[in-house]
Amino acid sequence: MIMKAAVSLLAIRLASAHIEMNWPYPLRSKYDPDTPTSLIDYSMTDPLKSDGSNFPCKGYISNTPWRSVTSYMAGQKYNISLAGSATHGGGSCQLSLSYDNGTSFHVIESMEGGCPLESSYDFNMPSDVANGDALFAWTWFNYEGNREMYMNCADVTISGGQGTADSFESAYPEIFVANVGNGCQTIEMQETVFAHPGNQVIYGSGVTSSSPPSPSCA
Ligand SMILES: *[C@@H]1O[C@H](CO)[C@@H](O)[C@H](O)[C@H]1NC(C)=O
Ligand SMILES: *[C@@H]1O[C@H](CO)[C@@H](O)[C@H](O)[C@H]1NC(C)=O
Repeated sequence: MIMKAAVSLLAIRLASAHIEMNWPYPLRSKYDPDTPTSLIDYSMTDPLKSDGSNFPCKGYISNTPWRSVTSYMAGQKYNISLAGSATHGGGSCQLSLSYDNGTSFHVIESMEGGCPLESSYDFNMPSDVANGDALFAWTWFNYEGNREMYMNCADVTISGGQGTADSFESAYPEIFVANVGNGCQTIEMQETVFAHPGNQVIYGSGVTSSSPPSPSCA
């Protein structure tokens, strides 16, 4: 009886506490002082639905008024921060940008293995990005536990870039998408290694630049 209660308590804890990006402020974040109370998503740490119905960005692009939360200067160094307690042993994350309202996301940095065991990650905003409004996304494939994809997106403004949306999209790979009913699943207790990680990569938990892509999805 006692053990059963302990097990269900653990299950509740795992189900309710994962990880969320808390800077830059994602759409509907409780950390953003300008998010109207009625729009706050108190379950921001939840993964995307396994049927893909709220991919991308937890379904918040078209129903959340656009408001830039930060400005990035191309070529400069920035960081993201993450909050929450259940890191599920880490996994692999990507940082990406969308210039087409979430139709496509292209990767500016990958953290392969050990992400998000740290609560902050640095990245360089590449010099050849396009200027203007963009969606900035953090995605995560957890190492342990249910096969899930996490995705938080922020409205940002970029300046100083030398590229166009088209040149950026052809130079940077599309984000990896799995565990959202698209026929691709990550493998539990195996670090996700992206076939196309882009040109800024942070390695952790034994993953190196010669680790083969995993999983191999078409
Ligand atoms: C992240 O960047 C901000 C400045 O933009 C800085 O104040 C903060 O210390 C950085 N955090 C880490 C962990 O490097
Ligand atoms: C994205 O959609 C919003 C309205 O949903 C629109 O105002 C904006 O111009 C769109 N941006 C792009 C880059 O298409």
